[in-house]
Amino acid sequence: MASSKKTAIINVMEAAARKAARGLVRDFGEVEQLQVSKKGPADFVTAADIKAEEVLRRELGRARPRYGFLLEEAGAVAGDDEHNRWIVDPLDGTSNFLHGLPHFAISIAHEREGEILAGVVYEPVHDELFWAEKGIGAYVNDRRLRVSGRSALDQCLIATGLPYKGHDPEPKYFATLEAVLAQSAGVRRFGSAALDLAYVAAGRYDGFWEFGLSTWDIAAGIILVREAGGMISGIRANVDPLTSGDILAANGDVHVPLERLLRAALRS
Ligand code: IPD
Ligand code: CA
Ligand code: CA
Repeated sequence: MASSKKTAIINVMEAAARKAARGLVRDFGEVEQLQVSKKGPADFVTAADIKAEEVLRRELGRARPRYGFLLEEAGAVAGDDEHNRWIVDPLDGTSNFLHGLPHFAISIAHEREGEILAGVVYEPVHDELFWAEKGIGAYVNDRRLRVSGRSALDQCLIATGLPYKGHDPEPKYFATLEAVLAQSAGVRRFGSAALDLAYVAAGRYDGFWEFGLSTWDIAAGIILVREAGGMISGIRANVDPLTSGDILAANGDVHVPLERLLRAALRS
């Protein structure tokens, strides 16, 4: 059984994610009620987000008391062990959550000396636990994941993230979007970068690109894609997406054509 491959570190991440997700799902139910109020559920969602992060910090800290953290809300927290840290996004897909759209996830990665060794992206609405560990593979629940086998760009479904207010836009973003729309079978913007990457790992999307993401959005998703046989790169030249925030993920066949397409659009 594939699940027997889950190591202690994956079990720790899974347990923490499932615990935090119980609160998120309860709060998601409340959010649906709050939609009709004038003020809307914004403050409530911020509180739900912070509560989920606190649960994750407590549970992960209990299991590995010496590890440090990079938390979206609380920031970097140094641990006694300076080599290992958790990278946590307690709620990826906040706008979806806020609007009652059931597409959001918890993302946790384990980083050792700058390298991502394991990751979990948990989507509680469909109870899909995407997990991967270096050298062990990528899975959703007990099923092994492989990226898609499509090699013709015109048959590929590609995910992206659109710029939005309060987020530094890439000036050439719409040139890249236009290029991919013209060459692919379609583009999707579902609003959770962690799930976009998990879906590339699962072969649901053939590729994904976005500019200006944060480490916690993509750390777990990156190892999911790699362990599912896919490729990850920066968009402009070979800059590490974890530092630049610009990421291209795709199956091995369409990665290079997509990279060429995006770079040509950026030069245009
Ligand atoms: C966001 C989501 C979204 C992406 C944004 C992220 P959040 O994370 O991943 O898909 O387009 O750039 O900030 O704010 O929901 O945690
Ligand atoms: Ca978040
Ligand atoms: Ca996020």
